[in-house]
Amino acid sequence: MQTKIHSKFTEIFGEGGVQFASAGRINLIGEHTDYNGGYVFPGAIDKGIVAEIKPNGTDTVRLYSLDYDEQTSFGLREEDLPAQQWARYVFGVCRETIKRGGTVKGFDAVFAGDVPLGAGLSSSAALESCFAFALNDLFGNGIDKFELAKIGQSTEHNYCGVKCGIMDQFASVFGKAGSLIRLNCKTLEYKYFPFNPKGYKLVLLDSCVKHELASSAYNKRRASCENAAAAIRRNHPEVEFLSDAKRVWLDEVREQIPEEDFLRAEYVIGEVQRVLDVCDALERGDYETVGEMMYQTHFGLSKLYEVSCEELDFLNKLARRMDVTGSRVMGGGFGGCTINLVKDELYEDFIKAAKKEFAAKFGHEPKVYDVVVSDGARRL
Ligand code: GLA
Repeated sequence: MQTKIHSKFTEIFGEGGVQFASAGRINLIGEHTDYNGGYVFPGAIDKGIVAEIKPNGTDTVRLYSLDYDEQTSFGLREEDLPAQQWARYVFGVCRETIKRGGTVKGFDAVFAGDVPLGAGLSSSAALESCFAFALNDLFGNGIDKFELAKIGQSTEHNYCGVKCGIMDQFASVFGKAGSLIRLNCKTLEYKYFPFNPKGYKLVLLDSCVKHELASSAYNKRRASCENAAAAIRRNHPEVEFLSDAKRVWLDEVREQIPEEDFLRAEYVIGEVQRVLDVCDALERGDYETVGEMMYQTHFGLSKLYEVSCEELDFLNKLARRMDVTGSRVMGGGFGGCTINLVKDELYEDFIKAAKKEFAAKFGHEPKVYDVVVSDGARRL
């Protein structure tokens, strides 16, 4: 990929620039907890974005996407918003850097990626983090890594219409080979956990379902959580985020909020605790507990948070039936992948059965991604 990008860069823009990379992410557990001030437990993966970039001495950004085989250019003022969604991620990163007092001047860039799109692996965060990191480096802005992650998150909020939490961009910037990161999304304290489960594999099964209205449904889930938190706060003013609430405090307001908001909040409060339980279990090498928590998360995401779908429930049920250690829908949901923790000796049979049975029911096989926990944003 690096060679292809370089030859395209020299073909379009002449003399080459500097290459940067960033990564997509997985999340072992802690879903929809980030914007509720709870814990998440992601890691960067060996699939990401590579970009070659060079300042061009003008006020214009010239951008070429190798994957879309499309070129565009835009200025750096708010009104210069490009028409293409893929370019808006980069435009947003430029604007958010400038809003924070950073310098961004015109540059030329060619980029490509190998994070499957719409699979819940955060291809957009990989793109944002790659450019946030690169512009910071090239223009010498000295912005710290937390702020680089927030630049990506604000890009989603202000230029892409998704009110996401910080997890994806954080994982993409802070990712470290071989480690998952437990992040407290309220305080931004984090801890690396070496993750090398001997005798197990982590595999993703991509349902290939893409939900059209995913971003509006996502924002709706967030609004439900904020509504529940606000109701609880009336009795318990110390509740800043939903993750601060005790389960019994939620019960107190059950009659005051829509049933739907109650169910969403019930899921979130349970999930925050599950992340801590999984971290404890990992330190003991207790993968059975890790896996059991993953199944509990799937149940919650499917029945309480309602972000699963028939295809993902099918893959989850199949995993359970085959005694796979852990399985759940991963990421924002509404399609995408399940993440599965599978014993080595079961791996082949599981993949074979998943392909066969899924294809018999839905007419196509799920895609299989083996992932390696890898480094996040960096200069190559
Ligand atoms: C998406 C968002 C994240 C997070 C997850 C769900 O990936 O970008 O901030 O909320 O969904 O855990």
